Amino acid sequence: MHANRYHIPQLQPLPPSILVNRPAALSSFYPFNAVDVYYYYLARNALWNGIDLLGLSPGDEVLMPAYHHGVEVETLLRKGLKLRYYRIGADLQVDFDHLREILTERTRCLYAIHYFGFPQSNEKLSAFARQHQLLYIEDCALALLSGSEEQPLGMAGDLSIFCLYKTLPVPHGGLLVMNRSVGRRPAFPDPPDLLSTASCLGHRLLDNVGLISGTWPYRITQEFSAVARAVKHRLGRPQAQVDSDLLQEDLLPVGISQLTRHILRRLDLEAVKTRRQENYRLLSSLLEGVVERVFPELLGDVCPLFFPVCVEDKAKVHRELNTRGVESVYFWSKKHPDVPVDMFPEVNRLRDHLLELPIHQGMSRAHVEYVAEKVREVV
Ligand SMILES: Cc1ncc(COP(=O)(O)O)c(C=O)c1O
Repeated sequence: MHANRYHIPQLQPLPPSILVNRPAALSSFYPFNAVDVYYYYLARNALWNGIDLLGLSPGDEVLMPAYHHGVEVETLLRKGLKLRYYRIGADLQVDFDHLREILTERTRCLYAIHYFGFPQSNEKLSAFARQHQLLYIEDCALALLSGSEEQPLGMAGDLSIFCLYKTLPVPHGGLLVMNRSVGRRPAFPDPPDLLSTASCLGHRLLDNVGLISGTWPYRITQEFSAVARAVKHRLGRPQAQVDSDLLQEDLLPVGISQLTRHILRRLDLEAVKTRRQENYRLLSSLLEGVVERVFPELLGDVCPLFFPVCVEDKAKVHRELNTRGVESVYFWSKKHPDVPVDMFPEVNRLRDHLLELPIHQGMSRAHVEYVAEKVREVV
């Protein structure tokens, strides 16, 4: 096994110093300063609770992108909604011709996803929704702090959802923003399980070790985590999983912890965004001519979540990067059984070949160079 200089996690670890930082003005940043914003354990909880407020009912049709995570699909299906899938092009943009083709008189809602922080055209999506009298749900689970030329993402939908733990070093967290006034509030959420919050926090703290000192110390932290998980399991404590593609229904009414709020108030969000943009641009320049970059340029006000690349053998590259100490995101390979198998060859190609590399704010220039070096070795 390789002894690596670093082990770079896909998500940003939590630097312990943040826990004792002075509180900052979270309320000057969208979506935290939105008028109707509600805090949950996960983004799927936000969606689950928001659907009821929008007044969608079982049997209503929703236009859903064929390229999706899977858990947002599960959430809508469990609400009894009927999903009609529309094409996403190789450029990860909505295919409006296909949207028009699949509209029926039962269609009530349009759902769109901003992939890795890169915006869809909200102007066109909102106009389409208005023209056909549809509600518009903006999924910003991968696009916290991101914006188009015009405005932050999440402002155009009747409802928008955000995932906090993907972009920020928090143990969990999702937001629901209601842009349409419905005159009702969601039910008050249940408190999260303390032990699950503590173990996610521990995980985020331990991830610093790999960033600083490479394979072996990182391996020790992994053993430690495995023991903690086994003890928790033996104690019969609930597993309130984060970053999972399984929909845990018992978790859907759960809110955010005080600990997560404590961390959120101590983050410098402007610096988070700037560092992500710098890391993205640096990695893009280092990988020019090495691998197919999906978005070589970072335009406008985009806050990138990952650096997406297209590779021939995704499983192999993912595995080999991991043995070299670079975690990449493999999640979206699975096809949801609700989606017609052969209808979306472009999306299947994305699922089979698109791999996301880390560019998070915990990474220094040296880490980004390390990722580029390892990609060069592997592809
Ligand atoms: C597009 C999209 N929507 C929603 C979600 C759900 O986010 P969460 O894990 O916070 O429930 C995810 C999760 O990865 C996602 O990728």
